[in-house]
Amino acid sequence: MTSKPEGGQPVSGKLEGSQPLTMAQWLHAAEAALAAQPLWRIPGVDEQSPRREAQWLLAAVIEQSLAWLLTWPERELSHEQQHRADAWLARRLLGEPLALLRGEQEFWSLSLRVTPDTLVPRADTERLVEVALSCLPSDSAPRVLDLGTGSGAIALALARALPLAQVTAVDRSLPALAVAQDNGQRLGLPVRWLHSDWFSVLAGERFQVIVSNPPYLADDDPHLSHVRHEPWSALVAGEQGMADLLHLVREAPCYLRDTGWLLLEHGATQAAAVRAALFQCGFAQVQTWQDLSGQDRVSGGQWLGACPLPGSCQGPDALGADHAE
Ligand SMILES: C[S@@+](CC[C@H](N)C(=O)[O-])C[C@H]1O[C@@H](n2cnc3c(N)ncnc32)[C@H](O)[C@@H]1O
Repeated sequence: MTSKPEGGQPVSGKLEGSQPLTMAQWLHAAEAALAAQPLWRIPGVDEQSPRREAQWLLAAVIEQSLAWLLTWPERELSHEQQHRADAWLARRLLGEPLALLRGEQEFWSLSLRVTPDTLVPRADTERLVEVALSCLPSDSAPRVLDLGTGSGAIALALARALPLAQVTAVDRSLPALAVAQDNGQRLGLPVRWLHSDWFSVLAGERFQVIVSNPPYLADDDPHLSHVRHEPWSALVAGEQGMADLLHLVREAPCYLRDTGWLLLEHGATQAAAVRAALFQCGFAQVQTWQDLSGQDRVSGGQWLGACPLPGSCQGPDALGADHAE
């Protein structure tokens, strides 16, 4: 094993130059190297334990299941397998997320291809899917819109859960949209993919549910110092992270059917501001849902009225933190 984080010592110097390693030997050394390196792990995406990360990594390199790997630990790696495993480990030790090394991420039990052009879908976002499903009767054939679809995660999860639904997904990034489209094709799930700046190509269309996980980090958010492998434009929004959330709240009424829902994922501290904007625009049933760790994660409301006059809910104080609710 010859992987070297940032040009330092080989992660397992004493094994270098020796006989081919068994999988168990490689895993042992890789686990030690991963444990020794303080690594940013994407919550809900990268495995938390160095042992599990090493196992996932090797399983992906040798293109076998985790179960196979654990059943045959004494098998020797070929020279080429060991070389590739070392190269991937070196990249992981430099901070590249496991999902991007493997090129795939599971979301809603769907295996999705991910690339540096897409956000790696987070487990927390499954909460948005759950909330959307709770707003729709399971036997209905709703028109559903996913804004900023990235890898297609939310749109594909909804298409899988609601076989009668007509799902539309948009993104401003053409490379991300190509990945989403490819995921849809591989999974055989029918989604209409559109290249669009939010609602711009959807004039005259109306939906029963509009969902979005838009960029919502402020450009000085400390989490961004760890983000080197995912597109900045998928994560960061102006106005302290609120710009896209507020834009979607203001525009959505013109694209919602009567009784339709707008559901937005946001950061844990943004719920009050999103609810305030929803109230101000005339949404009913405004509420926030928590994720598995109890953090405010999704806010939304139901549209009961007609299409508002253009600009009627663009008050300058929609951003304020202390709105009466
Ligand atoms: C936080 S990522 C979410 C990706 C995916 N929905 C998920 O949950 O994994 C935000 C997505 O919004 C897209 N986006 C950003 N600004 C946009 C805009 N003005 N119009 C459409 N999509 C936009 C980005 O390209 C990115 O794919």
